[in-house]
Amino acid sequence: MERLRLTEDGSHSLYNSQYNQHYHSVSGALKESRHIYMNLGLIPVLESDQETIRVFEMGFGTGLNAYLTWQAADQYKKKILYTGVEAFPVSQEEASHLNYESVISQPGFMQLHESSWFTNHSFSEYFQFRKEQLTLEDFSPENLFDVIYYDAFDPKAQPELWTEEILKKIAAQTRSGGVLVTYSSKGIVKRALAAAGFKVEKHKGPGKKWHVLRAIKQ
Ligand SMILES: C[S@@+](CC[C@H](N)C(=O)[O-])C[C@H]1O[C@@H](n2cnc3c(N)ncnc32)[C@H](O)[C@@H]1O
Repeated sequence: MERLRLTEDGSHSLYNSQYNQHYHSVSGALKESRHIYMNLGLIPVLESDQETIRVFEMGFGTGLNAYLTWQAADQYKKKILYTGVEAFPVSQEEASHLNYESVISQPGFMQLHESSWFTNHSFSEYFQFRKEQLTLEDFSPENLFDVIYYDAFDPKAQPELWTEEILKKIAAQTRSGGVLVTYSSKGIVKRALAAAGFKVEKHKGPGKKWHVLRAIKQ
């Protein structure tokens, strides 16, 4: 399949020719997702006293982050309500070629892709999943989120998704003390997050990547 890429840790990613961007780091899609979105974002909240955790993902994409979130919910036996937005969905045919079920010991990957949009699905006792097929600009949630996976394409490819204005919208949808994680550590991203009301921390990135960001809503 033309868009499919095998990344250096043996997990797949996809390539988007419109934006000339990969969906994940080519040094390792799974390694990147675990390092940034799980270990820096979700896991500390799962290890806190909080009983129910609301997760929002900008860019559902291949479903890799959602799938790891499901696995973490079941492992920690804590309720996670996941919502992802996606403007340009991956087809079910393409999703069926991704090797995530063989590199992550968790059944059910294709349910993420086969399930209906704009519907809450309980995939396990602990994992509730919802995806909305629309742009981030059009998204308006009913509840505040505890954890944000900000996984848009790079600021040079989609600058409109990294502005102070859009990050202010995200901040308004995040509870105070909530955490946003993202792979981009560019200066414009740090400044826009700070201006939007987040306290920004720089962390070591996965593999050869120097830095990634973790930002706490003030
Ligand atoms: C870096 S990829 C996300 C990878 C994804 N988190 C995963 O685990 O596969 C960025 C995603 O954002 C989506 N996207 C681009 N512009 C968008 C927009 N304005 N609103 C919502 N999604 C958008 C793309 O189609 C793509 O799936």
